Amino acid sequence: MSTDCVIRNVSEHVGETVKIGAWINNKRSSGKIQFLQLRDGTGYIQGVVVKSEVSEDIWNAAKSLTQESSLYVTGIIREEPRSASGYEMTVTGVEIIHLTENYPITPKEHGVDFLMDHRHLWLRSTKQRAIMVIRAEIIRAVQQFFDGNGFTQVDPPILTPSSAEGTTNLFHIKYFDEDAYLTQSGQLYMEAAAMALGKVYSFGPTFRAEKSKTRRHLIEFWMIEPEMAFVDHEESLRVQEKFIAHVVQTVLKNCRAELESIGRDVSKLENIVAPFPRITYDEAIEFLNGQGFDIPWGEDFGAPHETAIAEKYDTPVFITHYPAGIKAFYMKPDPNRPEVVLCADMIAPEGYGEIIGGSQRIDDPELMQQRFDEHQLSEEAYQWYLDLRKYGSVPHSGFGLGLERTVAWICGLDHVRETIAFPRMLYRLYP
Ligand code: 4AD
Ligand code: MG
Repeated sequence: MSTDCVIRNVSEHVGETVKIGAWINNKRSSGKIQFLQLRDGTGYIQGVVVKSEVSEDIWNAAKSLTQESSLYVTGIIREEPRSASGYEMTVTGVEIIHLTENYPITPKEHGVDFLMDHRHLWLRSTKQRAIMVIRAEIIRAVQQFFDGNGFTQVDPPILTPSSAEGTTNLFHIKYFDEDAYLTQSGQLYMEAAAMALGKVYSFGPTFRAEKSKTRRHLIEFWMIEPEMAFVDHEESLRVQEKFIAHVVQTVLKNCRAELESIGRDVSKLENIVAPFPRITYDEAIEFLNGQGFDIPWGEDFGAPHETAIAEKYDTPVFITHYPAGIKAFYMKPDPNRPEVVLCADMIAPEGYGEIIGGSQRIDDPELMQQRFDEHQLSEEAYQWYLDLRKYGSVPHSGFGLGLERTVAWICGLDHVRETIAFPRMLYRLYP
């Protein structure tokens, strides 16, 4: 008997008797036959128990199984064209591990708050499992892209002495006798790493103590932050579009079944090929004001503005050259027009909003010093960052991709809360 069988690889065990550790996803019975919907985390298979072919003990054991009971099930794997997976198991043995009583999540509809309170159990549902599988595939595709294109992964610190993206949304903690903050972005450290390794990327958790309660905001989210020495703004955009197209096409190739199982219109994802359109902030303002918005030059875009712009395209779109005043201190001004910076936000289609923020960085030591003065940044805290401009400064660019917004877009979810196993949101720290 095969004991290395999991549901994912039953196709390699057709005709064999196998033993699988599983849970009962669901069950139905027709009197003389019981149909066990089995899941083991790797997939789903129907186990068929025929009364006339098993002992009374096995029949009764199967009968006692409730939703989410755990068991070792033994049986013969058969091809079954009528089943969704193409396979079925003829059950010959049932060994109950644990009988579950009153599982809180039943096949009926539950409200979001109830499901979020039971997130530790909700994760077992077919849809939530599919989302986690797709998220893992997105992470694999991200690493594959950068590892395959000459980047070295570097891990910036999570505990930091100062801010990277402005001071309004920092989580403060005590670091023995000192003050420390949870990182908002690894970027500044990645700039140092790029000067050591050329092309680098980070992948890790970031924290924003933002009182935003929207479908796009998490308090704790994961970010991918590449940083590239000797790369200008234009070249960075080319990397970004190739990167995103690679991620989407890889997920389509390897997770089509999961995407379809959660009802994603995959034809929309098939459109995601480079290059992506680019519009300047100025053009975006003009377009929006022509659409009935009333937004003056110099103001930042909100979700409705981004959605209106994204609706014009089937692929993500870059909005470039924002006014310096609404962007971070480190962005390099356009030499032809210093009131705007060499930056771009990548806006996902279908209303998913900004998934990437990036820019060319200031490499001139005097200008950086000037920005420090304007923004009243502590030179003491950032001495190391100023050193990067002092010793062998080079043009360089980088960007940050928000993983959860990317998962929401690729999966077609209407809220980021389902894109991470245990979301941290305004007013939610449990479970
Ligand atoms: O635009 P942001 O704030 O850029 C940075 O942090 C830069 N330092 C990145 C860099 O150049 N290395 O954040 C980058 C991305 C956003 O486009 C968005 O996808 C995601 O991070 N993001 C969030 N995702 C979920 N919840 C939040 N509260 C987020 N804030 C930003
Ligand atoms: Mg941004």
